[in-house]
Amino acid sequence: MIEGAIIKISGPVVNAEGMSGSKMYDVTKVGGLGLVGEVVRLDGDTAIIQVYEDTSGLSIGEPVVCTEEPLLLELGPGLLGSIYDGIQRRLVDIAEEYGDFVVRGVTTAAIPRRTWEFAPTVEVGEDLVAGDVVGEVQETSHIVHRILVPPGVSGKVAEVRDGEMSLEDPVVILEDGKEIFMKQEWPARVPRPVISKEDPHLPFITGTRILDTFFPIAQGGYSIIPGGFGTGKTVTQQTLAKWADADIVIYVGCGERGNEMTEVLTEFPALVDPKTGVPLMQRTILVANTSNMPVAAREASIYTGITMAEYYRDMGYNVALMADSTSRWGEALREVSGRLEEMPGEEGYPAYLATRLADFYERCGRAVCLGADKRVGSITAIGAVSPPGGDFSEPMTQNSLRITGAFWALDTPLANRRHFPAISWTKSYTLYLDQIEEWYRKNVAEDWRDLRDKAMGLLQREVELQEIVQLVGPDALPDFAKAVLEVTRMLREDFLQQFAFSDVDAFCSLRKQYLMMNVILTYYDTLEEVLIKGVTLRQAVEHPIKNEIARMKEIPSEDAEEKLSDLLERVRQELSELAEW
Ligand SMILES: Nc1ncnc2c1ncn2[C@@H]1O[C@H](COP(=O)(O)OP(=O)(O)O)[C@@H](O)[C@H]1O
Ligand SMILES: [Mg+2]
Repeated sequence: MIEGAIIKISGPVVNAEGMSGSKMYDVTKVGGLGLVGEVVRLDGDTAIIQVYEDTSGLSIGEPVVCTEEPLLLELGPGLLGSIYDGIQRRLVDIAEEYGDFVVRGVTTAAIPRRTWEFAPTVEVGEDLVAGDVVGEVQETSHIVHRILVPPGVSGKVAEVRDGEMSLEDPVVILEDGKEIFMKQEWPARVPRPVISKEDPHLPFITGTRILDTFFPIAQGGYSIIPGGFGTGKTVTQQTLAKWADADIVIYVGCGERGNEMTEVLTEFPALVDPKTGVPLMQRTILVANTSNMPVAAREASIYTGITMAEYYRDMGYNVALMADSTSRWGEALREVSGRLEEMPGEEGYPAYLATRLADFYERCGRAVCLGADKRVGSITAIGAVSPPGGDFSEPMTQNSLRITGAFWALDTPLANRRHFPAISWTKSYTLYLDQIEEWYRKNVAEDWRDLRDKAMGLLQREVELQEIVQLVGPDALPDFAKAVLEVTRMLREDFLQQFAFSDVDAFCSLRKQYLMMNVILTYYDTLEEVLIKGVTLRQAVEHPIKNEIARMKEIPSEDAEEKLSDLLERVRQELSELAEW
């Protein structure tokens, strides 16, 4: 056993001597309380340890024990529905046993020690490779947990068990005596291996119009949501957690203020999954790490989240990983790096900020999983970024921007005008359009991209026209230009605005999005035609069909095809009739 003693304490960073034999990232138990920490630097026989728990009261000379193992996570049935802290301790169990605050030095089993009904899918004599499915467990009412041969293990099946089993019982035994359990362990900082990464080509459908229509991302893609305080980062992530096209949701609440996290912790378990009618928590894992928990644990919470995401991806699921907010993670890196007296980079962030971010996003994606059956699974990551003062030029936003494929920029003026979601259509972008266009063409509409680009073009022209209006006033604009403003107002109010808490409108099907956009663009085309024929803009915009366009959102997605196709026809006809007078 490697046992040393504390020689220096600096906030979450502790130096201990007599630690020779320890390796980087070994987990240590620090002090009499056995606080959990990780070796982040070695210098002779001195280990520099980042401690995941509050170090107050710790004193020089207290013992430090190295476990000689990295931060290992438990993976197996029972993860879903759990609420963890940054190092995978079950907060609910801790609260039951020790009260409302995490008591230092506490360790809990990450997955409950209960029995599960194991249904094998392999037979004696079968050859297995790493990643093969050996059996299934019905983890929650809608999620089947596939038990996999762990990475690095293979061989011929000698024995298969069946039925009610505990996590400590082997379910399959190989000829060489290796035992496979329903539970595996995995080091949080190491990416779980896959056969290959695939180019993302399927959309990650969110049901939010500005995202799916204007700035879509692919399943296995990643996007960031930067935004100042109160612009809607948390609401957007929760809306996605609820509605987006993912089998499993991992929600990492990283370093946000305690009361915000409380909201997540109280609201989330109350949410019902709109697709299945069962509690959303049955396909969700929460990792909660509020600002009053020690900073170093925030760093770990990101790795805890992504490792659990990889584990469900390996079963062939599409996983969505939400991190709110990655800025707090960056700040934790900055604080620890400062304590380690490393050379600071931009604004005090460590020089390796960009690499750490890249390594994290690198673990997402669409992958062919280990195993002979070539299952495909994906991790789509949505990271909130909270730049101080809403200034996007700061290092976290800029570094994330360089890595991620999409940028959903929340805009303070839009939020102040109560235009929700306050996602800016001028500042946001996506790099996934070309990859998923074909899917939209086949599954939504052949001319989907053309309409999307046309609507986007109009919104961009609006910005130019607004500048002219500011200079010379609206009256100086010709009717054709005013028609553009009329239609872009429609696009903003009747299409882009979408109330996250509406029963009907919180989720909008892709076909409905397309039809709504088509109605508005048809209105625009017909308006242009009748203006040429001498109808005045005033006459045209007084036509009451405008009010029906304003109510399109209220049409349920299932009726959209019929009702909106009908409205589209009527827009064309009734507006054209104006010119026949
Ligand atoms: N899509 C939306 N629909 C309706 N209201 C929204 C929406 N997005 C944000 N809001 C409003 O903005 C408030 C602040 O959003 P929140 O997500 O908590 O901000 P942030 O996490 O960026 O600080 C919410 O309480 C809600 O009233
Ligand atoms: Mg928030």
